[in-house]
Amino acid sequence: MTPDTRPDRDAFNLEDSNRTQNPHFDSVLAARLSRRGLLRAGAGVAATGLLGATNLTGCATQGAAPAAGALATRLGFEAVPKSLADTVIVPPGYRVDVVYALGDPLAPGVPAFRNDGTDTDFDRRAGDHHDGMEWFGLDAAGKPATGGATRGLIAMNHEATTDEKLSSFFLHADGGGSTLPRRAAEVDKELLVHGLSVVEVGVEGGRWTYRQISPWNRRVTTLSDAVIHGPARGSEHLVTRFSPDGTRARGTLNNCGSGKTPWGTYASGEENWFGYFSRDARDNERRGRNDKSVVALNRYGRPAGAPSRHGWESAGTDDRYARWNNGATGADARNDYRNEMNTFGYIVEIDPYDPTKPVHKRTALGRLGHENVTFARPVPGQPIVAYMGDDARNEYIYKFVSQARWDARDAQATDRLAVGDKYLDQGTLFVAKFREDGTGEWIELSMRNPIVAANPDFEFRSDAEVAIFTRLAADAVGATKMDRPEWAGVNPRNGEVYITLTNNSNRTVDGDTGADAANPRVYQDMKGSRASNGNVNGHIVRLAQRQPTDAAFRWDIYLMAAEAGADAGRVNLSGLTDANDLSSPDGLVFSPSTGICWIETDDGAYTDVTNCMLLAALPGQVGDGGRRTLSYRRGDGSEKRVDTHLGRPQTEATLKRFLVGPRGAEITGWCESPDGRTMFVNIQHPGENTKMADVRDPAKYESQWPANAGYGAGQRPRSATIAITRIDGGRIGT
Ligand code: FEO
Ligand code: CA
Ligand code: CA
Repeated sequence: MTPDTRPDRDAFNLEDSNRTQNPHFDSVLAARLSRRGLLRAGAGVAATGLLGATNLTGCATQGAAPAAGALATRLGFEAVPKSLADTVIVPPGYRVDVVYALGDPLAPGVPAFRNDGTDTDFDRRAGDHHDGMEWFGLDAAGKPATGGATRGLIAMNHEATTDEKLSSFFLHADGGGSTLPRRAAEVDKELLVHGLSVVEVGVEGGRWTYRQISPWNRRVTTLSDAVIHGPARGSEHLVTRFSPDGTRARGTLNNCGSGKTPWGTYASGEENWFGYFSRDARDNERRGRNDKSVVALNRYGRPAGAPSRHGWESAGTDDRYARWNNGATGADARNDYRNEMNTFGYIVEIDPYDPTKPVHKRTALGRLGHENVTFARPVPGQPIVAYMGDDARNEYIYKFVSQARWDARDAQATDRLAVGDKYLDQGTLFVAKFREDGTGEWIELSMRNPIVAANPDFEFRSDAEVAIFTRLAADAVGATKMDRPEWAGVNPRNGEVYITLTNNSNRTVDGDTGADAANPRVYQDMKGSRASNGNVNGHIVRLAQRQPTDAAFRWDIYLMAAEAGADAGRVNLSGLTDANDLSSPDGLVFSPSTGICWIETDDGAYTDVTNCMLLAALPGQVGDGGRRTLSYRRGDGSEKRVDTHLGRPQTEATLKRFLVGPRGAEITGWCESPDGRTMFVNIQHPGENTKMADVRDPAKYESQWPANAGYGAGQRPRSATIAITRIDGGRIGT
């Protein structure tokens, strides 16, 4: 047995910077409340979620669910077996078309993708590592039409690249440079393959295809115009050489999950952005060791001396390279990029129907390792509510409640980003605390909450600072450390909120990251001779609220991901079988048309048995299972018991594998045509375990997909969007 050693690229994706001793905060909190006289004032239940929580009222009923007849009542397909084949497998009766892959030209005159590392012009080609995506319909004449089902736009994230050492090696003919300084021509490509796409797709000749020439096609890259919105706009912490008044930024980065706003725009989460910045070893001294910026940089994964993922800062003196050096190297913030990292980490919004408008960074939703954002069904007269996960080990789950109340006419507005300003620029952010008894609360993060304002580790002076240094505010209020919160989704049947917790190699039995009710599993999994420890396979938690604006919730664990053969008493607690076992749930989206819950995996633990997959689920509701106690034996022989709340066991009728992807790929991103008859899924980073030294030897690639499926030139693997349809034209999954 060898210890769990991960490839070095994971260092930039598996942040764990939360050193907070949260269990102790309960007592700290009570003491502070007492000191401030709040206990005497009658607010002494320590219900911090109620302090100043002006928006946490709500008396309207939950928005009506879709017509019951439209929602699926059964999973009407044959389960797909686990597979290690280098192909996309779907159930009998379904077909797969590759629609849009890395490098596909997006503008007239851009040459076809050669796929040999010599291509350029990536600001006019599909980006890399397709991730979250949403559908925006067009009518037959090519005009915006929300119901359009055979022609439309897909807005999409291009999260990252397939790397070894510093280089995105499949993008370069010889694999690129793996030492500093990086070659500028390589960095120029890497800067442009990140960001977003808007691409027109349609049915032609009986199959789905993208359109190279469309007035809607657009790329957003790390260099595109972005404007800061919300409480952080104009903050001193966002001042850079590029934007001396702290109102503008350049580009968006490491865009992971997605959301579609109730007013019809695209929302995207900036996730693992911290790894792209370098700080030299002396930067703490220059800033002052106790400077707030140092505290924040440590909390956000950039200690002094941290190297950057790609070394972009080394490619030259031009601003487009220099900005990735986050050190305080100039006379002040107007003369360097010490604050550049603070311009990333937000939910960003674009209007896919308006290519002329810049990216809007919505700072009111906090600065995190944002996975996606999902919206509760909007209710006229009530605030807009959104849910979000911070994907790093031992981070938190958040909720945003808008100050403005929903006016249904805004769903028809044509200046959609102005509507976004209305609902997303003022509001209140909350963080989740889970309790052992199956209840929980949303705790307000703002200067109105005295616990935030009195944080001894970081002196918050404004709500702008809460928006930029959100994790430090959440630490102060004793939020629950989770096993890497990924996608959130809202069940259209009952409004319950599902959040995937993909895995956590740092979950332990005891200590600051000790097993707790909401993150109760700690175990060892073997992959061949390699042992992994912690919560290796992940789980999915769900919350029920009377109203989306409520401060209180009930919760349980909907699903414990596990290998079918794992110990049924400690690991495979949801009773998974070969038809539905999975590891590392990540993407999670409820189909608006069928109500099916689609679950996608980004796994490295079960990949000796199967490639990553997509499953379909018909979940029940919070409380449909019962209390469960897990028992751990410590080294000294003593026992630790963890009480949790677990949903009903799964069967093939409630959870079933629908798709298995090619080798080395994660399955991510999900959208559908509004009629539910086409489902789009992204295949991200096929062949990611290929060695850079083998870049010119296709026989050694881990994957040759999608070229081996007949799509495009060359043999290098490419991230791509696929369209899945039923041969009989029926609704997917039903
Ligand atoms: Fe980009 Fe948390 O996955
Ligand atoms: Ca295993
Ligand atoms: Ca993800």
